[in-house]
Amino acid sequence: MNLPRIAVLTGAGVSAGSGVPTFREAAVGLWSQYDPQKLATPEAFQSDPKLVWEFYDWRRQIMVDCQPNHAHDVLAAMDATLPEFTLVTQNIDGLHPLAGSKRTLFLHGDIWTIRCTRCHYRQQNRQVPLQPLPPLCPECASLLRPDVVWFGESLDWTILSAAGEAFAQADIALVIGTSAVVYPAAQLPLYTRKHGGRLYEFNTERTPLSDMATATFLGPSEDTLPNWWQDFRQEQGL
Ligand code: APR
Repeated sequence: MNLPRIAVLTGAGVSAGSGVPTFREAAVGLWSQYDPQKLATPEAFQSDPKLVWEFYDWRRQIMVDCQPNHAHDVLAAMDATLPEFTLVTQNIDGLHPLAGSKRTLFLHGDIWTIRCTRCHYRQQNRQVPLQPLPPLCPECASLLRPDVVWFGESLDWTILSAAGEAFAQADIALVIGTSAVVYPAAQLPLYTRKHGGRLYEFNTERTPLSDMATATFLGPSEDTLPNWWQDFRQEQGL
């Protein structure tokens, strides 16, 4: 019997259980303390690279000791079990690969990769704190930047179209820990719905996607997703 094809979209909420701050929750949301337009844009980097690097270095220091939680582990198990599975993440914290996820598309980049603003230099770097700030390219001495997608920058087209393809082919879309307000990511799960697939949402609150969801599992995804996966495996005889 063919197993259902699954496509997953994750956001900051999947890492909340690992201690990584989310962006939009008023209480602890990262953005509530900073004006994103001041920090995560090419213009901000142009005008004050040191300030932007201080912001990312601070986030790296928060993230560097965070470990994957049970939701990350379940997604890695799905990847290892299901023949047709794609994980699309908006997160830059690196917790999905750390948990063992393989077939992963990174829509917004990776905070642990640093690249040159001029030449092709690119480096995996988990050094915290980074010194000196802003770091300069060892090849051409130009400014290095975090390999993340800033507000106003376009996503990598090949990654985005592969993500769109995965959701268009999926029988089931899982949307986990995202406020579903940032496009084009928030659009992706609707491709599954459009061709009659099911959309399951895992969040601590309802979102603009909830009305289109087959079901919304309210609660921390580190609890709700493992329960769903257990039921799914029983149902599929896995
Ligand atoms: N389990 C499930 N969901 C959770 C949990 C949890 N333990 N904790 C919080 N959430 C939910 C919140 O209810 C919220 O809907 O996770 C969501 C986090 O939303 P955001 O903070 O907006 O993060 P995200 O959706 O990933 O933001 C998208 O916006 O700022 C840009 O590039 C940035 O990738 C980011 C994008």
